[in-house]
Amino acid sequence: MSIFLDAASGKDTQRAPIWIMRQAGRYLSEYNAFKERYTFWEMCRNPEVTAEITLLPVRRFPLDAAILFSDIMTPLADMGAEIEFAPGPVVAHPVRTLADVRRLRVPGPEGTAPFVADAVRAVREQCPVPLIGFAGAPLTLATYLVDAGGSADGHAGFRVWLHAQPEAARLLLDRLTDVTIDYLRMQIAAGVQTVQLFDSWAGIHDPAVYAEFGLPHARRVLAALDDLAVPRIYFAVGAHHLLDQIAGLPAEVVGVDWRTPLSVARRALPGRTLQGNLDPAVLVSRPDALADRARAVLREGLGGAHIFNLGHGIRPDTPVDHVQRLVETVHAFDRHAEADKDKEVDKDKKVSA
Ligand code: CP3
Repeated sequence: MSIFLDAASGKDTQRAPIWIMRQAGRYLSEYNAFKERYTFWEMCRNPEVTAEITLLPVRRFPLDAAILFSDIMTPLADMGAEIEFAPGPVVAHPVRTLADVRRLRVPGPEGTAPFVADAVRAVREQCPVPLIGFAGAPLTLATYLVDAGGSADGHAGFRVWLHAQPEAARLLLDRLTDVTIDYLRMQIAAGVQTVQLFDSWAGIHDPAVYAEFGLPHARRVLAALDDLAVPRIYFAVGAHHLLDQIAGLPAEVVGVDWRTPLSVARRALPGRTLQGNLDPAVLVSRPDALADRARAVLREGLGGAHIFNLGHGIRPDTPVDHVQRLVETVHAFDRHAEADKDKEVDKDKKVSA
């Protein structure tokens, strides 16, 4: 077992394992060198290149897990969607009508980004730490397909569409759920040891809309992985107001963005491993500041299992030596000793009261 898998399975480990959302990305010069030779889709579709990029951050820093290099949009190309990256996803023909939805195929387990299985096997041969696979949650994937990429107005276009075309919305979400199940089961069969479901745009909805269009599909995806017995991570951004619903999802780990203190999430999600949640902006700032803030996050995470991460993806302007400093700070923090100190303080308080 690894410390990452221990924590993902619910163990209150002595130190928090750490990986970083978007750890193989533009803040790394080695990644930017790949970008000069390949387009984004080429990097995702060539298993050797995908494996090399996946391994870049774990070769440079003593991280406790690797995440497969790909994108949440990868499986949608096999449904018939035309997607480019600039650098965020741009969809050539936005999905708007019931007929548009019906044109999207469900390609089946063999036809959904099969190159990803080869990449997973190539990474597993060389990777010293557990490999995380991932997919986008249906609601978030639908956001990109309908809104064609634009998020400047909080995806108001998508929020309008959900209510203007509820029948098309339900069919689209159902198809995306089917594809996502096939895609994640394929990744697990190929060797990923944990999966993360990214619901990056869940938080733009009110609780009732999330209850109708988000939660049931996320639940169906996660529940369909039950028999495969790998830890499941669910991560929704800006989802403070949805935590009580998220508490009902079949996920061992819940990712928390930087706006919700881990102690608050802990109360809402008893028994779950929490993942997060340093503000990615802090990591850009200053080595001493980021170390202080990271320790504050670690203290917030005491009292249950914790996987350290950022509260969202790492920013491209992050200095690499700050990442090294972060990993060292997290690894040096003894969670059990800190928890004991807290207990002593509590005892003293009781004695003097
Ligand atoms: O974490 C990793 O290192 C694995 C790779 C990974 C990428 N995208 C590579 C990528 C992962 C896990 C993702 C997930 C993803 N993609 C999400 C969920 C996480 C989140 O940020 O909420 C979302 C919403 C997307 C959609 C997407 N793809 C966006 C918004 C962007 C552009 C903004 C950005 O962060 O760069 C992309 C493009 C993308 N995906 C890049 C990378 C490395 C940048 C492409 C480039 O190099 O120009």
